[in-house]
Amino acid sequence: MSERLKVAQVRAKDFKCIREVEITPAGGIVRISGAPGQGKTSILEAIEAGIAGGDKTLVRRGADRAEIFLSIGDLEISRKIPVRGRQTLRVKRDGLALTQGDGNALLKALFGPHIFRPIRWVQLAGDDSRGRKDRCRRQRDELLSAMPVRLMAEELMEAVEELGEDVLDAWREIRADVNYGDHGLMICRSLEAACYDTRKRCNAEVERAVRDLEQYQVTLGSPPEEDLEVLRGQTESAKRAYHMALGQVEARKTLRSRAEQLGRQIAREGADLPRRCVIDTQRAAVAERISTKEAEIEFLRGMLAKAETALDEARRQASEISDTERALDRLDGLRAELSELETSLDAGGEQDLEKMRKEIDEADRRVALRRAHEDHKQATHTVSMARARSERFDRLVKLFRDELPRRVVKRMNMPIDGLRIERDQVAIHGIPLHRLGTSEQIRVGVQVAIALNPAAGFVCVDGAESLGREGLDELRRITEELGIQLWMSEVAEEPAPDALVIRNGEISA
Ligand SMILES: Nc1ncnc2c1ncn2[C@@H]1O[C@H](COP(=O)(O)OP(=O)(O)OP(=O)(O)O)[C@@H](O)[C@H]1O
Ligand SMILES: [Mg+2]
Repeated sequence: MSERLKVAQVRAKDFKCIREVEITPAGGIVRISGAPGQGKTSILEAIEAGIAGGDKTLVRRGADRAEIFLSIGDLEISRKIPVRGRQTLRVKRDGLALTQGDGNALLKALFGPHIFRPIRWVQLAGDDSRGRKDRCRRQRDELLSAMPVRLMAEELMEAVEELGEDVLDAWREIRADVNYGDHGLMICRSLEAACYDTRKRCNAEVERAVRDLEQYQVTLGSPPEEDLEVLRGQTESAKRAYHMALGQVEARKTLRSRAEQLGRQIAREGADLPRRCVIDTQRAAVAERISTKEAEIEFLRGMLAKAETALDEARRQASEISDTERALDRLDGLRAELSELETSLDAGGEQDLEKMRKEIDEADRRVALRRAHEDHKQATHTVSMARARSERFDRLVKLFRDELPRRVVKRMNMPIDGLRIERDQVAIHGIPLHRLGTSEQIRVGVQVAIALNPAAGFVCVDGAESLGREGLDELRRITEELGIQLWMSEVAEEPAPDALVIRNGEISA
């Protein structure tokens, strides 16, 4: 512990409410007492600002600049913070002046990014359970910011690639804008949030797809073997056959009415005519008569005129008979047409339209069933795709939530044994820090402080009155045990005899 640097002198001028203060501690404990608002905290802040720098709000109102001088071990640090312009830093080591840049770098290397305040840190998670989660997170973040650990771009890509090609594709979809200057764990956290959001959207897609799928499962029977095209062809040809049959029915109707018309015509015309046998008899009689008459003409020239008259009459009758015969021929023709028609009607048989309609319905049903099966297949595919997508983002969430932070934390050189950063809080040997007893927490805080400010042989404890008697004793014990200087401020009505009393920004006698 001897190489740890102790504060041998603090001088501050025009820093916050401090006008001018000079403290040259005698022992291991510097106790600054006073009423509220007198400048106790300001003195501790002057030490911190001397080492790590500060902004112009630290300059006392009305003054041009604040000045801080620190003598710490072999270092002499002079810092001036002006209201306007840039602050200046002069660092001497063993009496040797360094350039401003070297001085700055040396202080960073020796003390870390800032002077860690152990008590304020442990009290962050506090006694009050209200808002504990947020306060634990702040405690965690403060520890993290005191221990910057980077996450390298290659390390990140390697970890994602380890999860396989498909997860890598999912990762590319996130299009994360990573600032590798940020704290490694913070990067993990924001990537986790991005992947989580996407996974949430994926899960919604899965739910939608599952709902779609369930809708098919209600109505589905076993599918026809033919594929959709064939089934569609079957419906088409059933429809074609039906329409053809419908056309034939119409044509038959027309023929039937023609047949009826012929029947009527035959009946009408046939009624007026004698039968064929009668005609034959008549024809024979007349022929006989003609020959008789001709014979008579030959024989009875004298009776020629009379016979000629009779002949004329007979010829006239013969012509009448021919007319009748023609009419009978026509009638025969019509009868033949009718019988032919009837034969064809009988041969065709009646088409069963009802049956055909049923066939169309069946074909349609089979098409619908096949289509439902195909849609079902598609929906099943959609579900499994959505599930796979969600699964990939799930793996990314786990990577950024658990695995990568674990790797980062492993590299972090936790300041003390058993200290871990869990998701939202700091824990020691698995127990959340705020659950430890007050003195245990004080011990952890001080150990963390000296681990985080490796060269510092001092810790600053502001508002030590809040620790109570036991806490204060523990604080004394641990700092003495570790051989480090304790700078503490406390509100005290009656300051202890060894305390420096500050009033209105000055040490009172
Ligand atoms: N730039 C500044 N110029 C002048 N006064 C300032 C400046 N900044 C802060 N102060 C004043 O400093 C005082 C607080 O100083 P400080 O915090 O050191 O007091 P304290 O003794 O620690 O008080 P407490 O016991 O309440 O913690 C306040 O009155 C505040 O207004
Ligand atoms: Mg204070």
